[in-house]
Amino acid sequence: MYNYNDLKNKVILITGAAGLLGSEFSISLLHQNAIVIGVDNNSSGLKKLKNKISKIFVKPKFYIFKCNLTKEKDTKNLIKKIVSKYKKIDVLINNAGSKSSSLKNFYEKMENYKMKTWREVMSVNLDSVFLLSQIVSKYMIKNKSGSIIQIGSIQGILGNDGRIYKGSRLFGRTISSPAVYSASKAAVIGLSQYLATYLAKYNIRVNSVSPGGVENNHNKTFIKKYSYKVPMSRMANKKEIASVILFLSSKESSYITGQNIVVDGGYSSW
Ligand SMILES: NC(=O)c1ccc[n+]([C@@H]2O[C@H](COP(=O)([O-])OP(=O)(O)OC[C@H]3O[C@@H](n4cnc5c(N)ncnc54)[C@H](O)[C@@H]3O)[C@@H](O)[C@H]2O)c1
Repeated sequence: MYNYNDLKNKVILITGAAGLLGSEFSISLLHQNAIVIGVDNNSSGLKKLKNKISKIFVKPKFYIFKCNLTKEKDTKNLIKKIVSKYKKIDVLINNAGSKSSSLKNFYEKMENYKMKTWREVMSVNLDSVFLLSQIVSKYMIKNKSGSIIQIGSIQGILGNDGRIYKGSRLFGRTISSPAVYSASKAAVIGLSQYLATYLAKYNIRVNSVSPGGVENNHNKTFIKKYSYKVPMSRMANKKEIASVILFLSSKESSYITGQNIVVDGGYSSW
């Protein structure tokens, strides 16, 4: 009999919990009766999510912590606090991602890209993923058990097709996908493979999940151009990414490690 019953009372830490995907991951894991720890540097976003969750569940085991994950000391203190309170971390979901403090700088053309922006994005998308994996795996090693899930992207395995961004908007703003995004996500996938082989002896699994574009207030031009590139002719729904997170969090994926699970409607398969 296959099910996700083992997620009941599992302590699952999700970074970037206040965001589009992090919120969905939190809700889907709470439906499995997991203890969900949501971490984000956006405290109003976290409170909004907590409020939403309190309307869906009776006594949800959802706990929020504000932390800027680029701050090493704060991150170490936070994990210490979480482990002393909840005794363990069974699953770590490294989901936080940054578009830097200036969207204008984040979407800048490659020729003009500022190293300051590059480093700012890398510090969240890659450095914090390593740091959290390093700190949390120490506790997982003691328990001889754990699952670490890193959120990559199809941009980490493919070149960027800049043509789809002409006339495209998200929340009314022009968008594109910069080199730092691809580089950070490719690195996350490589890091996951390294960690998977290194941590396998302690019964800790490490995988990355690489979503394609997820529906989120994009304008019609983007949806049309993007969907044309997808064999399934549409963007992903956030629930379609969350279902893979459930699987990788549970014992049902007990023999899967070192993989990059691409969830892209076939985008990368032409
Ligand atoms: N949405 C998509 O289409 C898509 C596709 C592929 C991959 N991804 C990846 O999935 C992950 C989640 O994406 P999303 O669309 O939910 O993004 P989002 O912007 O909605 O959420 C990201 C969250 O990370 C948090 N964050 C940023 N910097 C932080 C820091 N220094 N410390 C703590 N928290 C920080 C933000 O506050 C935000 O709540 C990201 O890693 C993203 O790159 C998203």
